[in-house]
Amino acid sequence: MQRNILITGGAGFIGSHLVRLFVTKYPDYRIYNLDKLTYAGNLENLTDIENADNYKFIKGDICDSGLVNSLFEKYNIDSVLHCAAESHVDRSISDPLAFVQTNVIGTVTLLQAAKNNWNGNFDGKLFYHISTDEVYGSLGSEGYFYETTAYDPRSPYSASKASSDHFVRAYHHTYGLPVKISNCSNNYGPFHFPEKLIPLCISNIINKKPLPIYGKGENVRDWLFVKDHVRAIDTIFHNGKNGETYNIGGHNEWTNIDLVKELCRQMDNKLGRESGESEKLITYVKDRAGHDLRYAIDASKLERELGWKPSLQFAEGLSETIDWYLENQKWLNDILNGSYINYYEQQYHKR
Ligand code: NAD
Ligand code: TYD
Repeated sequence: MQRNILITGGAGFIGSHLVRLFVTKYPDYRIYNLDKLTYAGNLENLTDIENADNYKFIKGDICDSGLVNSLFEKYNIDSVLHCAAESHVDRSISDPLAFVQTNVIGTVTLLQAAKNNWNGNFDGKLFYHISTDEVYGSLGSEGYFYETTAYDPRSPYSASKASSDHFVRAYHHTYGLPVKISNCSNNYGPFHFPEKLIPLCISNIINKKPLPIYGKGENVRDWLFVKDHVRAIDTIFHNGKNGETYNIGGHNEWTNIDLVKELCRQMDNKLGRESGESEKLITYVKDRAGHDLRYAIDASKLERELGWKPSLQFAEGLSETIDWYLENQKWLNDILNGSYINYYEQQYHKR
């Protein structure tokens, strides 16, 4: 079956894995990637598929309703996989309005375009919203987030994502828009921008720079390999129920300090450094304001109803991720020296 799918934020970390999966797995689908190319968007993430016949990149802002509506009309969009967002908690603390703009206004702009262009003819249509477990707030040392857990966002980032989730549900209930939402735990893997904990530490271990640990490093995150996340999105997109929410997680909880020590151990081994050398780079720094203590997802609904499970053990996924960064130091260095920003000009203005 042919489909015309608008993927937003497809030049980012998760979006690029999602674009690659859909472009290669479904040659009959046409994939339109709308991305503003903020600091987090990098077309070097997609060089392997950028010339595929069923793929087109459009540089633009999801808040630009004129552009978004023109894409619905021109490409007869029947599905949206909405990934674009401002995604870094620390940036949301220093610039909350940027998060309201993209995550809230941008999402509502897309919802409005879908509603108006589909105009009540919802057959074969779907608005899939990709969200985070952070909307549920923070856990103590026990318990899990379920799909039924009440929202309790505590950072400007999670508050903006919670708001966007509410709007998606509101469009479903009020206008009948076909929607699906998934809330996923922390992702890791190739193409992860080196301001988030795992790629930052990999990059700093390579370059023998300090590894900044907020507070005492006792905060807990539930880590999932990014390819397992996009596999889950594929499953929910095709087999999930209209109007439903699915939690996605790895059942893989680590305190930040244990995780960074495991990274140090694996990297000393791979780099032929003396055991314990990289751990000496660990530096405790001032805690993040309002730092959520623990996230942990119960993903049993997704496993029970749609048969999805994480495919990789963490040690394996981390090792694959470290190997990718070691083999792709040009990708990393292009980000560290800012030259990745020129890629769009070079690639798209030469034509
Ligand atoms: P990212 O920051 O790596 O990528 C975001 C992408 O969106 C970038 O390519 C950026 O250029 C684009 N973008 C930002 N503002 C835009 C705008 N106004 N218009 C068009 N494009 C814009 O983020 P990510 O880590 O890949 O996260 C993707 C989605 O998954 C987000 O919605 C995030 O909330 C969600 N999520 C992320 C994680 C995680 O661990 N990274 C976990 C769960 C859910
Ligand atoms: P991050 O990768 O920013 O993801 P999120 O805040 O969405 O969970 O951070 C993961 C954890 O690592 C979080 O508890 C904050 C912590 N952290 C550090 O200790 N040092 C750092 O330099 C960063 C970026 C994060």
